[in-house]
Amino acid sequence: MITSPQNQIKTTISELFEDSKYDMLKMMKGAAKSIFRRMQPLDFKDAYLSISKEQGQGLIKLIKDNKLKNIVEFGTSFGISTLFLAQGVIETGGHIITTELIDSKAQKAIDNFKKARVSDLIDVRIGDAMETLKNHDDPIDLLLLDGWKDLYLPIFQMLESNFHSNTFIYVDNAEMAETKAFINVIRQNSKYQLKYQFGGKVVLITIKK
Ligand SMILES: C[S@@+](CC[C@H](N)C(=O)[O-])C[C@H]1O[C@@H](n2cnc3c(N)ncnc32)[C@H](O)[C@@H]1O
Repeated sequence: MITSPQNQIKTTISELFEDSKYDMLKMMKGAAKSIFRRMQPLDFKDAYLSISKEQGQGLIKLIKDNKLKNIVEFGTSFGISTLFLAQGVIETGGHIITTELIDSKAQKAIDNFKKARVSDLIDVRIGDAMETLKNHDDPIDLLLLDGWKDLYLPIFQMLESNFHSNTFIYVDNAEMAETKAFINVIRQNSKYQLKYQFGGKVVLITIKK
């Protein structure tokens, strides 16, 4: 039986959400390692830490409603959010650049993209986003910030010259202290407007018209 591209992506996403049900345990293990030091991405090398299904559906709608094509994602993990983005860009004819620091996570994400048959839509960059996204000089329609929170501001500033009047910046984990510090800096810039979603977990930044 031939499965449609959308169904193939949906099936892969469901399998990954099923596999992510032990995330809480993995996160607790990771957090325990960091009692005497600052948490590091490697402490969470086995955890998905993914966006929710509802957020994924919201991202698909955002992409389709606004015909977004050029997507950049900071923080791939095992690729759940990227697969939602792929569901959007498959409709708009767009593509995604996503970046992940931890090699083993990126390799798993690459396998997941193959399984979902969307590898041709996704450019996976392995390494520190400050390096992998450096010198990016194409317009960005949607920037998804979902990596380590202390990098939100430097990454935003590094990519800001690629924003245009219809760019969306989707900020996950807006309730976290480091994200709040980032949001406070952006709020002071009259160029941008902010909209909270998902009970404050997400902030959508747009350019004032
Ligand atoms: C919250 S998870 C991403 C979840 C993913 N967006 C999803 O919803 O499925 C954050 C990811 O960012 C990665 N990360 C942390 N620092 C990074 C950096 N400097 N460059 C690239 N990736 C980084 C972590 O290894 C982790 O896998």
